[in-house]
Amino acid sequence: MYILGVSCYFHDASAAILRDGVLLAAAEEERFSRVKHDFGFPSRAIQFCLDQAAIDGTQVDYVAFFEKPFVKFDRILQNAFQEVPKSAAVFRQAITAWLLDKLWIKNRLRDALGVPADRILFVEHHQSHAASAFFCSPFDDAAILTVDGVGEWATATTGRGRDRTVDLTHEIHFPHSLGLLYSAFTAFLGFEVNEGEYKVMGMAPYGRPIFVDEVRRLVNVAPDGSFSLNLEYFEFQHSTSRTYSDAFVKLFGEPRGVETLFFTEASGFPSYFGEKPTNYAELAAANQRYADIAASIQLVTEETLITMARAACERAGSSRLCMAGGVALNSVANGRILREAGVTDLFIQPAAGDSGAALGAAMFVHHQVLGHPRGFVMEHAAWGQEHSMDAIRAAASTSGFTAEECADEDTMLDRTAELIASGRVVGWHQGRFEWGPRALGQRSILADPRRAEMKDVVNVKIKFREPYRPFAPSVLADRADDYFDTCGAERQYPARFMLLVEPVRPEARPVLPATTHVDNSARLQAVVQSATPRYYELIRRVGRLTGVPVVMNTSFNLRGEPIVNTPAESISTFARSGLDALVMDTLILHKS
Ligand SMILES: [Fe+2]
Repeated sequence: MYILGVSCYFHDASAAILRDGVLLAAAEEERFSRVKHDFGFPSRAIQFCLDQAAIDGTQVDYVAFFEKPFVKFDRILQNAFQEVPKSAAVFRQAITAWLLDKLWIKNRLRDALGVPADRILFVEHHQSHAASAFFCSPFDDAAILTVDGVGEWATATTGRGRDRTVDLTHEIHFPHSLGLLYSAFTAFLGFEVNEGEYKVMGMAPYGRPIFVDEVRRLVNVAPDGSFSLNLEYFEFQHSTSRTYSDAFVKLFGEPRGVETLFFTEASGFPSYFGEKPTNYAELAAANQRYADIAASIQLVTEETLITMARAACERAGSSRLCMAGGVALNSVANGRILREAGVTDLFIQPAAGDSGAALGAAMFVHHQVLGHPRGFVMEHAAWGQEHSMDAIRAAASTSGFTAEECADEDTMLDRTAELIASGRVVGWHQGRFEWGPRALGQRSILADPRRAEMKDVVNVKIKFREPYRPFAPSVLADRADDYFDTCGAERQYPARFMLLVEPVRPEARPVLPATTHVDNSARLQAVVQSATPRYYELIRRVGRLTGVPVVMNTSFNLRGEPIVNTPAESISTFARSGLDALVMDTLILHKS
C-alpha cells in the first residue's frame, strides 16, 4: 500500500511517500524548484516520491493532505468578520487566495495524480504534526506536544500517543499562539517571519533577559501549560503586513532596522562586515538592547515550553515526549526541556515544521485511519534525492575543475580527512539529501573546528553570516560526552538531527573555538555510526589526524539559496564560492 503525504500553500511545501507504513522518500519542494521556502503545489517533490517508489500517480492508494482547508478557511472568515473593519485587507486577500487555489486542492491532487477523490484525505494540521513525531519515534507510548504559529484553529496541543493512535486532548486556539508571539519579536528584531526565528534564538546569548517582565505582559501562562496572549500588543489577527501593535512599540521601543548588521561589544565588529563605522559604540549599544529583548523572548518561550512539556507528560503519565510544529525547531528550548521538564526521552523528527506535516498526514492515515501496525523508526534524515556516480562524473567532466576520482570509498575518506585536517574548506555531497532544514552530512560544507579562524574563513569565502549564527559541530555520538555536556547523545534522537543545543565542556571550549557560541553552547550533531556510516567514518578519520573527532558543519548553499541537490548545483556553488575542494561520492574536485 502506497500513501502519499502532501503539504503546500502555507510555508514549506513538501511530499513524502510510505510503502506499507515504511518511509521511502520525503523532500521539500524548494530543493527541486530552487525557490527558498517554496510553498506552491509541490509537483516536483511529488514526482520525486513517485519515482523513488517506482510507481505512477494512479498506483497511490491514498493521498493525505496536511490540514483541513475548509476548517482553516472558516477560521479566517470568522476572524475577519469579528475584526471588521480593521481586517478588511486580510479578508480581501484571503478570499482571493483561497478561492483561487487552496479550496480546490482536492481537484488539483486528483488531476495531478489520477487518484479518485474519495482516496484523498484531509488530516487536521496538529494531528499531522503529532503523527509526524510519534509514528516516526521508537516509542509505543509517549506524551505529545505540538506548537506552531497556527493550523486550522489550534496553535498548540498536548496529548498521548499509544501504539497506532495519537489522541490530542488539550488545544490552544488562535489567536493565542506561542509561534506567532515569537514571530512578532522576529519581525520586531528586523528578520523575516518564518525565516528569521532561529536568528532571534542565536542573538539571545548576546543579551541579558532584562525585559522578561515586559514580555510577560504579552503572554499569560498557567501552571497547566495553557496560555493566552494580551491581544492589544498584536496586529497579526487583523493585518497581513504587521504582526505587532503600537502598544508593543511603546513597550519595547522602535523596531530594529530590517536585516541591519548585528554586532555588540561581546561579538566585536567582524572583519567580513567591512569598514568599522564611526558610530560603532552607539550602534553596538543599540544592538545590545535588541539582544536583551531577544534574550527575554527566548527565555519566556523556553519557560513556557518547559511548563507545557511537563504538563503533557503528567497528563499522559509518561516521561517520553514527542514534539513537533515549527516551535519544536527551537533547539535551545529542546535542550532545556530534556534537562528541566522531567523528560527522559525526547523525539523530534528533522522536518518538525510544516513540511514535516506531509509525512505526518501520511502516517496518520496509515496507522490511525487504516489501523495498520507500526514498523518504522526514523533513524536518519537522508530521504531526499541521490545522484549516480555517472551523473556526478558527467557534471564534473564539463566543470573545468581538476577531478580526482578515488579508487574506492576508503581512499576518498582518507583524502577528505586530510583536506579538512590541513585547514581546507570542503563541499561534501553524499547520497540522498536531507529531510528538513538542517544539513546533516549529506549536503554539507565541512571544516576543522579547532581553528578559530575557520568562522571568519567560511564567512568571508562562502557564506557571510552574522555572529549570531554559530556554526555547528558534528561529533561522533560515542565521543560526544568528551566535548559536550549532553543529555545522552546516542540515545536522544534530536541530537542526531541537530535539534539540541548543549553546553560545551569547559576543557573543550579552547579545543573547538569555531563551533562554540558566545554562551559556551553548541548546536551539535551527534553522528551515529549505524545511521550515517560514511559521515561517521569521515569524522573518525579526521579525529585520527587531529586528535579531535569533530568537524564544523554548515549547510551546502550560498546565502539566500536553498541547500544544493544535484551535482550541477554543488559544482555551481563550489565555483561561486571560496570552497577549496568538492567531494561528491568518491570524486574530488580541486580548484587548482
Ligand atoms: Fe504547523
